[in-house]
Formats: sequence, C-alpha cells, structure tokens
Amino acid sequence: MKIIKDVKRPQFTNDNGIICSKIEGDITLKVSMFYSEAPFPNYQGYENKLMLSQIVSENSFLNDLKNHIGLNKTFIEVGSGTCQLSLAMAIGTNNLIVAMDPTKESLQLGKEFADKNAINNVVFLNSDIFDNEVQDNLFDVVWCSGVLHHTKDSKKGFEIISRWAKEDGLIIVGVYNKIGRLRTNFRQLIYKLLKKSDFAVKLISLLDPHLRKNLSEEKKQAWFRDQYDHPVERKHSLDEVMNWFEENNISYLGSIPSPSFQFENVSQMNGYKGTYLDRTFAQISMLFSNLGGEGGLCIVVGKKGQSVAKDK
Ligand SMILES: C[S@@+](CC[C@H](N)C(=O)[O-])C[C@H]1O[C@@H](n2cnc3c(N)ncnc32)[C@H](O)[C@@H]1O
Repeated sequence: MKIIKDVKRPQFTNDNGIICSKIEGDITLKVSMFYSEAPFPNYQGYENKLMLSQIVSENSFLNDLKNHIGLNKTFIEVGSGTCQLSLAMAIGTNNLIVAMDPTKESLQLGKEFADKNAINNVVFLNSDIFDNEVQDNLFDVVWCSGVLHHTKDSKKGFEIISRWAKEDGLIIVGVYNKIGRLRTNFRQLIYKLLKKSDFAVKLISLLDPHLRKNLSEEKKQAWFRDQYDHPVERKHSLDEVMNWFEENNISYLGSIPSPSFQFENVSQMNGYKGTYLDRTFAQISMLFSNLGGEGGLCIVVGKKGQSVAKDK
C-alpha cells in the first residue's frame, strides 16, 4: 500500500526502519527540537506488548475504539510522539498502522519497542502535517491528539489531516480546551510568577495530579516540559472544532466531554450536539473531572462525509 504521495516519495529515505523526510517548517522544527530533548509521553521502561494491550482493554474509550475498528483497516496516528497508541492499536490485529511525527527521537523509541516486541504492522513516518506528504482518502481512522495546538495553525492542520481519511472514515482529534485547561493555566501562572525556580518545580510537581502518579523520571520530565515549558501552545473551544468539522465535510459524531453530559464511546456516539449552553456547561464540567486535572484535552470525533446526517 502506498502511504506517501507519488510526487513526495523521492524526498524520503529509510533510516533504520523509519521513513524520513526533511523537516523544514520553522515552527515544526522549533517544536520538534523541544520534543527531541524529552520525547513525549515516553515509557516507564518496563512495558511490554501485554502491558500495552492491557492499558487499552482497561480504557473504555480505547477498548471500544479498537473493537469498533476491527480488522483489515488502516489507521494513522498524527503526532504519535513515542507511539504507544499506534503500537497498542497494532497488537493482535492485521491493521496497517502509521505512526507519524516530525520528532525522530520519539519515533525511534516507538520503533525500538516494536522491534523488541515483534510488532510488525506499524510504519514509522517522520513527517510534518504541513508538508502534506500522506495520500488522501487512505485511512479508516485518522487520530490526532495533543498535536494541533502545538503547530503553526490548528485549523489548517486539521484541514490537511482530514483529507487523509477515507469517505466514512473516522477522525478523532484532541485539543486543549479553552475552559477545560484553566486549571493547568493557573499552575502555569504560578510557575511563571515563581520565576521557574527549583521551588516552583517542586510546588507544581505537588499540585499537578499527573505528576503525583508513579511515573518514570523520563515520563515526569516529558510531562512537565510539555505542560509548563512549551514554546507553542493554543486552546480551542468545542464550537471552534465543530466549525472545522463542518468546513471540511466531517460530520460531528460526539465528544468527551459530551453535550449530552453522558460519557460515550465511539460506537455509542450519535451526533447529538446539544445547545450552545449544553456545550458550554460540558466544557465547564471538565474543570471538576480528570479531564481538567490532566491538561484539559477535549476529544472530538467525526466521520468523513454526510452519512451521519443521512442516518438520522
Ligand atoms: C504532546 S505530544 C503528543 C504525543 C501523542 N499524540 C500523545 O498524545 O501522547 C505532541 C506531538 O506532536 C508532534 N508534532 C508537533 N508538530 C507537529 C506537526 N507539524 N506535524 C506532526 N506532528 C507534530 C510533536 O513532535 C509531538 O510528538
């Protein structure tokens, strides 16, 4: 299967199993250099294939998604970081998974894991969304979480990756939410006011619920930098993302948090958008749940084309 557009293929080289292009965009280079110092989210160091599978089976959303996708499918994780999701989605399936990221150091950690655990259905692609090197209409699922808000233009990035999905394919994006990230913004302010001192680092490490977990030093460092020292970061509202969907012929299926105030897995999502007030309250509710405690990512799911509207 051809993953890269014909005209772009000559620019790629194979570097020890990672398919690489030259990353040249200013902002992408800046962000990629940032992550090359602390690849995100990194590993605990003791994970194996079984443990990654277990993480998926214990996570209602991911477990449902993996079952919903089934077999013989194509899946791309755009901005895969150290590739855990791609690897987990690949295990036990014959699906073709593409883990794409401009940070080669992150892909290398994913590739090492794949080699150690004999996972053979993941392609590691070193590329930038804005170089638009991936074939259009190729993927059953395009997943892009925690990425667009770190690029030069979230909306333009979305426009490009949505072309890579097949008609009726799923698009799942996670972006920092305007309201849901306020708790993190408050901690960012404290960190800045305390001049990023050692004391500030200690205080933030106590205040941030994710940093209180039992994580490897590499994972802690990656999270801390990602949340408090990032050179490029924006936030978006649920309505903004819904508009991107509409402008790119993607039917909204559902989101976490949901305007219905019920947690829904992808297979349960029915396109219910609620009112503006419902959506505002759903985003405010993030502040009182894990979603707001751990970075304020809002997940929005859509389907390419208008079949959802037709089904209703
Ligand atoms: C916060 S990490 C998220 C990693 C992973 N998606 C996760 O949720 O664990 C952001 C990732 O986006 C990647 N990224 C940044 N700019 C990008 C771009 N223009 N195209 C593709 N990926 C990009 C970075 O290299 C980094 O690995």
